[in-house]
Amino acid sequence: MFLINCGQELTKNMKKHVYLRTFGCQMNVRDSEVVAGLMKKAGFALTDDETKAGIVIFMTCSVRQHAEDKVWSEIGRISKPGRKNRGAGSVRPVIGLIGCMAQNYRERVFERAPSVDFVVGPADIDKIPGIVKKILEHRSVSKQACGLFDLKIWETDGLGRPEHIYHTGFYEEKGHAYAVISEGCSNFCTYCIVPYVRGPVRHRNAQDIIDEINKAVAGGITRFTLLGQNVNSYRSPDPLNGKPVDFVSLLKHVNRIEGVEEIGFITSHPRDTTPRLFEAMAEFDKVRKYLHLPVQSGSDRILRAMNRGYTRQEYLKLAREYRRIVKGGILTTDIIVGFPGETKEDFCLTRDIVRDTEFDAAYIFKYSPRPNTQAEMMGDDVPRSEKERRHKVILDLQRAISRAKKEALLNSESNL
Ligand code: 5AD
Ligand code: SF4
Repeated sequence: MFLINCGQELTKNMKKHVYLRTFGCQMNVRDSEVVAGLMKKAGFALTDDETKAGIVIFMTCSVRQHAEDKVWSEIGRISKPGRKNRGAGSVRPVIGLIGCMAQNYRERVFERAPSVDFVVGPADIDKIPGIVKKILEHRSVSKQACGLFDLKIWETDGLGRPEHIYHTGFYEEKGHAYAVISEGCSNFCTYCIVPYVRGPVRHRNAQDIIDEINKAVAGGITRFTLLGQNVNSYRSPDPLNGKPVDFVSLLKHVNRIEGVEEIGFITSHPRDTTPRLFEAMAEFDKVRKYLHLPVQSGSDRILRAMNRGYTRQEYLKLAREYRRIVKGGILTTDIIVGFPGETKEDFCLTRDIVRDTEFDAAYIFKYSPRPNTQAEMMGDDVPRSEKERRHKVILDLQRAISRAKKEALLNSESNL
């Protein structure tokens, strides 16, 4: 697609500098590191100062409408002609929208936000440096030919990521690295857009993950978080004997790596989580005693409508087993209030599960209909004010639980 452009040209220094802003989950944080590493390899430099950047990239999230709205408004802000602090002539930077929203809207992004130059979905992020170079080149050429057109590029049809992108060695934090173990998700919880924008689950080869961790250790990193939408469904051939490795065996391999001091992991799906994982958490010295186990709802009827694959009783049993086996372990969860058809009785069951399980933390979300999901077809019948009320009830309850837990901990420490 081509549009008329009458702007000025970016300075040489600006063309080198990339400002990369990340919205959303840890998977996006890691994807942004991958993009940053690839851009650096291609000769670009990163900057925290948006006004010095000739290239602005938004790594985006589609999980709730609110996350998308924030990005649209940021793009609007950055595209305003003559906005403050951008220096001579307020030249519009090259703007890229990448990640889940890119996949959700594809080329329709250009209709909604004409200042965006490129759109790249999660399976195509390896192509970003090449795309940016092409757009910069095109801008200079079209400028010499008297500023005619902007080039728009979108890449959203990739089938998967090449393994090499995980090995640029770029990590945001000093001593900590995220390591992706699985991409995508095939669970199809009915409210969730992730399987549509990130594609079906693909597990990385265990040997590749171990190689990445070994290299990061050599670069001074000691703490790792293994990432996947459902880490407990991990499967890959064993690097030692070719037999299938599951998540617990992968943890065992990583636990053995010299120089690794701490291993965490997110997210665990209750359907695939077993006491064997808890035994491993208790046994492997480097594994953090931290489990994020999203319950989403306390009502069997709603859990079924969400396609979660477990019942309230099964979840409660799992939580009890965790607490019994992993002594002093932290347990956190996600909850959605106002799912289609959620009655006051359903909601009370969620409230009770929060009260009885005494999570260390709970992330509470108001249901947001997502395009093409099964839940979207179920309507959105819980009024906004009621969603807000339910959200507040759980939030207040969880705050009281967290406060009581903190006080109990302080008291037990002062009695030592
Ligand atoms: N509406 C509200 N919350 C959602 N989540 C996922 N999809 C939606 C949605 N459509 C929440 C779930 C998930 C967390 C990452 O985001 O609780 O565990
Ligand atoms: Fe979404 Fe369910 Fe997959 Fe999590 S497990 S990413 S909630 S579909």
